[in-house]
Amino acid sequence: MGLLFKARKRAEEADLSALPRHIAIIMDGNGRWAKKRGLPRTAGHAAGAETFRRVATWCKDVGLEYLTVYAFSTENWKRPREEIEAIMGLLDKYLLEAIGRMERDRVRMRFFGDTSVLSPRLRELIEKTAEISTHFEGCQVNICLNYGGRDEIVRAARAYAEDFKKGAADDLNEELFESYLYSAGVPDPDLIIRPSGEYRLSNFLMWQSAYSELYVTDVLWPDFDQNEMKRAIAAYQRRNRRYGGI
Ligand code: IPE
Ligand code: IPE
Ligand code: MG
Repeated sequence: MGLLFKARKRAEEADLSALPRHIAIIMDGNGRWAKKRGLPRTAGHAAGAETFRRVATWCKDVGLEYLTVYAFSTENWKRPREEIEAIMGLLDKYLLEAIGRMERDRVRMRFFGDTSVLSPRLRELIEKTAEISTHFEGCQVNICLNYGGRDEIVRAARAYAEDFKKGAADDLNEELFESYLYSAGVPDPDLIIRPSGEYRLSNFLMWQSAYSELYVTDVLWPDFDQNEMKRAIAAYQRRNRRYGGI
């Protein structure tokens, strides 16, 4: 009881009028959630997709500017084919539904990662969401799909080198380098949330996370909800960001 009360109180402490600009989430723990219930891992991914829908809607409703989620990493291809296909199928379903609602909901979408290797159908849906997103302002949801932080940095380095060779780029500095990342134009995440209790970044936003505040909770992603979001935000609001200063 005591603990429950404390947790509830912390959620209420979140000041939603002073939100961070950008929250990023490593949507982890789907497999364990399913295993706990004696279900196949794919059921965990389906539940995780629902959680994503609810959390993204909440973020839009409270006026968050940027939400970035890690949906599939460059390392997740190591998983069994059936599991990968199930994840891609869920993405397909989600995007198809989202396309009909984006403009009304004022949710813009962008994808970080190498989407060129995805199925033609998924690529088409991704292009459509990008096109719709150009028509209005609103909450921007970045979906990291076939994304790896190291891969992103190597690609950026290659693209810069190409431009430099052509005489199309100046000497390199941090600002110029950032313009070659998938996240070009997006402010760095203020807060990175990792459900499922793992204390690692797993190749997520390696460049952008330099000064992000990290928040880890044991709650598994399918069990995550708006109260967990508020708890993370309340914890963030108690942090003292120094950026190397005093
Ligand atoms: C996160 O959940 C989803 C993806 C990585 C695609 P997991 O599938 O990694 O769940 P756990 O970590 O095995 O519980
Ligand atoms: C990170 O989770 C990737 C996503 C959530 C998409 P993983 O489950 O792949 O990470 P590890 O293997 O536990 O580090
Ligand atoms: Mg995992």
